[in-house]
Amino acid sequence: MSSGFFVTGTDTNVGKTWSTLALMRALQRQGLSVNGMKPVAAGCEWLQGGWRNSDALLLQQYASRALDYRHINPYAFQPSVSPHIACGNTDVRLDVILNAYRFLKTQGDCVLVEGAGGWFSPLCRAWDNAYLAVALQLPIILVVGVRLGCINHALLTYRAIQQSGCELAGWLAVLIDKDMPEFQANLDFLKQRIGSPLLGVLPHLPSPDFAYLAALITLPK
Ligand SMILES: Nc1ncnc2c1ncn2[C@@H]1O[C@H](COP(=O)(O)OP(=O)(O)OP(=O)(O)O)[C@@H](O)[C@H]1O
Ligand SMILES: [Mg+2]
Repeated sequence: MSSGFFVTGTDTNVGKTWSTLALMRALQRQGLSVNGMKPVAAGCEWLQGGWRNSDALLLQQYASRALDYRHINPYAFQPSVSPHIACGNTDVRLDVILNAYRFLKTQGDCVLVEGAGGWFSPLCRAWDNAYLAVALQLPIILVVGVRLGCINHALLTYRAIQQSGCELAGWLAVLIDKDMPEFQANLDFLKQRIGSPLLGVLPHLPSPDFAYLAALITLPK
């Protein structure tokens, strides 16, 4: 199995963080030491003397090792807007992110990197999630937030990942809309069209339970 994965999604707010934490738990249950990373985050609060993002704090909390926040989230911006706007005049440097990732690699068996937004969402003015995933040379896990419209978003993202040359290790279906009609029919359609394994169907939960979700995941080969 790969020593890392880049977790992308069909959109913002589709379950990437919950899925990443469930994947971390699933890998940890195999006895692996697993850490998470959110390279660029927009939407932060001032805590403990710095800007802190709630996704990155969860990744820090569920990591196998006690890690310094700056390695998990090297770029944290206050406004809750697209990172290419939130970054203002800050130069978001790829080498800084790659160095933080390489450091995390030395701290365990596996690193899960959560993107921001979707595959083509910009992470700064110059480049986007797709560019970072290629630079990290990681297989991709695609989180499909299952709701009306997700088929188009999922297939566009699938095609774009293929065109980037990245490997899609698998995908997760997250039932973010608990009242989604014809959930199973939508899922069956996506299973036919996405040529990588479905790693799990994560149900709609009233509150997060990452250990429970982890048990529903089949890890990629
Ligand atoms: N399995 C689930 N059951 C119920 N609600 C969920 C589930 N997964 C995610 N959610 C809800 O959707 C919200 C967004 O999930 P999450 O934070 O994982 O999305 P994201 O794709 O990481 O968003 P962002 O683009 O902000 O990083 C969560 O706050 C939670 O309320
Ligand atoms: Mg998130």
